[in-house]
Amino acid sequence: MSMASSTSIYRLEPSSIADAASVAALRHAAEVVRRGGLVAFPTETVYGLGANALDPAAVARIFTAKGRPANNPLIVHVDRIDRARQLAAHWPETAERLAAEFWPGPLTLVVPRAAIVPAIVTAGAATVALRIPAHPVARALLEAANRPIAAPSANRSNQVSPTTGEHVIRGLCAATDNLVDVLLDGGAASGGLESTVLDLSTDPPRLLRPGLVWPSEIERVIGPINCPEFAIADSAAALPSPGTQPRHYAPRAPMECHPSPNRSRLEDLTREGRRTGWLTLNSDTRDVPGGAVVVKMPRDPVAYAARLYAALHELDAAGVERILVDLPPPGEEWQAVRDRLRRGATITITNTSPKR
Ligand code: TXA
Ligand code: MG
Repeated sequence: MSMASSTSIYRLEPSSIADAASVAALRHAAEVVRRGGLVAFPTETVYGLGANALDPAAVARIFTAKGRPANNPLIVHVDRIDRARQLAAHWPETAERLAAEFWPGPLTLVVPRAAIVPAIVTAGAATVALRIPAHPVARALLEAANRPIAAPSANRSNQVSPTTGEHVIRGLCAATDNLVDVLLDGGAASGGLESTVLDLSTDPPRLLRPGLVWPSEIERVIGPINCPEFAIADSAAALPSPGTQPRHYAPRAPMECHPSPNRSRLEDLTREGRRTGWLTLNSDTRDVPGGAVVVKMPRDPVAYAARLYAALHELDAAGVERILVDLPPPGEEWQAVRDRLRRGATITITNTSPKR
């Protein structure tokens, strides 16, 4: 397929994807997928950059557009469970039970890979990551394309994932010289953090990435799973999943996480003349030093997750030079948020020990 000279952008209302304009947009996007092009589309977690998962040349374009290392495998999205089974060499009973409970939804299952899945998708691994997304636009695209769609988050590698079409335009489209053929802009992604990734090829199953489906919810369905402590690993070699490298999901400005609101740090940075953004859980934001950009974050973990990446994109757009974050408390409900904050941070100060 020839490269697009510019990205075709369609705005779709997720509640009315059956109207004529949406149907035409979806038909075009599906055609682009079938011909080996790239389509950015909303899911219920973050925006994805999709290509036909069974076409190695199309998948290679994803890696190029993102600047993604070839050793980081992609998630394959499907619209039905029977298609997921076709992409697996072995479909464990645990997968069947979890799919019945959580699909469509933000849970990715890693299972043994069937031979029809190209090696580039899985970075050569003997396993493949699969999920059925819940977003109506994502599901309509999968149905119209009639292909499994490999899709990482639609951002340049190591940058903050996009939760709006605008983020995709300002980030990926602007940086890639129009490698993105189509953007389906379906408004804000409601979940705001990437899916939970669970490896079912090990016994017991292992959590590779915390997300919007919590370990206790998974364990209720399949019994105990292995949840490594998501403290930042010091050695890349020790990482269970290549995409869970220590520094990831990072805003442009260096980010510091503090265990409690650190007003004096904010004052110091401001005094040094650094324009500083503050992601705070603290309701008292009076007397903040002039020039600081304050973003009050929700105290509810689900609402916080939905807001986090948009807040980081806003602070980047505001041109802050430093970001201070009040790290939310430990506990399962904050696990995914804390994981992303710590991976995005250049420094995390905990009560016990400073981390790189
Ligand atoms: O919510 C999401 O999962 C979004 C939307 C677009 O679906 N996608 C997403 O993709 O976050 P990406 O590429 O940014 O993250 C995929 C994660 C990475 O951590 C990758 O290493 C892991 O899944 N992964 C993919 N295939 C794997 C495999 N076979 N074994 C272990 N980990 C795998
Ligand atoms: Mg990503």
